[in-house]
Amino acid sequence: MKRLNSQLQQDGAPLELILLIRTLLAGCKEISFRVSQGALAGVLGSTLSENVQGETQKKLDVISNQILKDTLRDSGYVKAISSEEEEDVVPCSADGNYLVSFDPLDGSSNTEINSLIGTIFSIAHAPQWMKPDDPSAFLQPGTQMVAAGYVLYGPSTMLAMTTGRGTHLYTLDKTHGGFLLTQANVKIPEQTSEFAINTSNQRHWEAPIQQYVADLIAGADGPRKKDYNMRWVAAMVGDIHRVLCRGGIFMYPFDKRNPKIPGKLRLLYEANPMAFLIEQAGGLASTGEGRIMEVMPSEIHQRVPTLLGSKEEVESCLEYYVK
Ligand code: AHG
Ligand code: MN
Ligand code: MN
Ligand code: MN
Repeated sequence: MKRLNSQLQQDGAPLELILLIRTLLAGCKEISFRVSQGALAGVLGSTLSENVQGETQKKLDVISNQILKDTLRDSGYVKAISSEEEEDVVPCSADGNYLVSFDPLDGSSNTEINSLIGTIFSIAHAPQWMKPDDPSAFLQPGTQMVAAGYVLYGPSTMLAMTTGRGTHLYTLDKTHGGFLLTQANVKIPEQTSEFAINTSNQRHWEAPIQQYVADLIAGADGPRKKDYNMRWVAAMVGDIHRVLCRGGIFMYPFDKRNPKIPGKLRLLYEANPMAFLIEQAGGLASTGEGRIMEVMPSEIHQRVPTLLGSKEEVESCLEYYVK
């Protein structure tokens, strides 16, 4: 089976980027090990602190963030980091050539129930002029990413990654400690009959998504003329992994609860990297108004509405926004 290194070389990734990815994944392997130890390692449960997102941090949020930060900061490849769990950007090496953004632990409410969690990341070039503590270089659209991916800490530890030459899936071979290519060039089926949305928020949705989901639920008796199934992992990594594997549409739409927060998911740490993976696998990733990867961020913790997945299903959903 092909190793990660050879696939990255085949995809034309420069050596320094390959080394950076390997460094980042060394951190993820450590998280994978800690996660697998669960209660035995005392890593489960909450802390007493709140992050900049207004969420109570789980111990694993803090531990994972620290592992990735320590691993990347000393590598020499990274000029600065932005993280869901850090209020400000974290300055690294002045001569580092890359910027890394990450959600160190996605789906952290699943830690207590031994269910799916993961790490989501993206990498962009660091401009020469940039000072390591300057957040403005992170405020570029997702189209500027040079690589993005996630590591899913499931029954097996899997990596989904793209450097812009297709989305590939790898599985961590724990016997030798490396990621091996298990599916090259993932293609998401263009049609689907599976959707993912937290329907407990229904009363807060706007009209287009209200009508779209009502029509999905109406099934074969409604305008969509087929029955749909629903899934919700409560971890975006789990839901997006399912969409990459067998198609579907994943939605975290605009929410009228707080007009200042346009959706729950974070552009830099969640929406953009997943959009890159989905687009590279032939799917679509939209805010409802435009392509996620073209959103110009105004601050590092910006949130966006997200609609991602099978091409034709996302197109059908977007028709409700046009109407
Ligand atoms: P995080 O654990 O990094 O804060 O992200 C949680 C996100 C995302 O992974 C998931 O899709 C969504 O929150 C779940 O939200 P609900 O609480 O509405 O289920
Ligand atoms: Mn969180
Ligand atoms: Mn998350
Ligand atoms: Mn998180």
